[in-house]
Amino acid sequence: MVTLNINGRDLQVDADPSTPILWALRDNLNMTGTKFGCGAALCGACTVHLDGNPIRSCITPIASAQGMKITTIEAMENDTVGKAVQDAWVKHDVPQCGYCQSGQVMSAVALLRTNKRPLDADIDNAMSGNICRCGTYQRIRAAIKDAATTLA
Ligand code: FES
Ligand code: FES
Repeated sequence: MVTLNINGRDLQVDADPSTPILWALRDNLNMTGTKFGCGAALCGACTVHLDGNPIRSCITPIASAQGMKITTIEAMENDTVGKAVQDAWVKHDVPQCGYCQSGQVMSAVALLRTNKRPLDADIDNAMSGNICRCGTYQRIRAAIKDAATTLA
């Protein structure tokens, strides 16, 4: 058993310590908001926060998260920054197929926590690891700026 703190709750996970956080979330805890894309830290679909920093949960073992705080997309509707980002996402009609979007939102929230007025270059830099096959990048940029204005 491995104890993980996820969205403010300590949860027991019956999995090998080498199990990636992504699969502990999806398979052990039935938290399916975090997506599997590449499994190799190349696409960002699996992004969650570990002690507030965006990480690729597909390559991060649960052993390395013990004693730390994991935050997932499921917590964003009750989070001030997360809610502002999600509202902006809806307003700007960002999602197309939607598959990459929970990872996009998690990266955007991490950006806005550290940079309240991100410029285009800041956004491109922070979001560069999140791939969208539907090409929603311009809308993501606009939505992040809108969320920043809402939060100001
Ligand atoms: S599934 Fe983790 S980066 Fe692609
Ligand atoms: S919305 Fe389809 S991959 Fe991004």
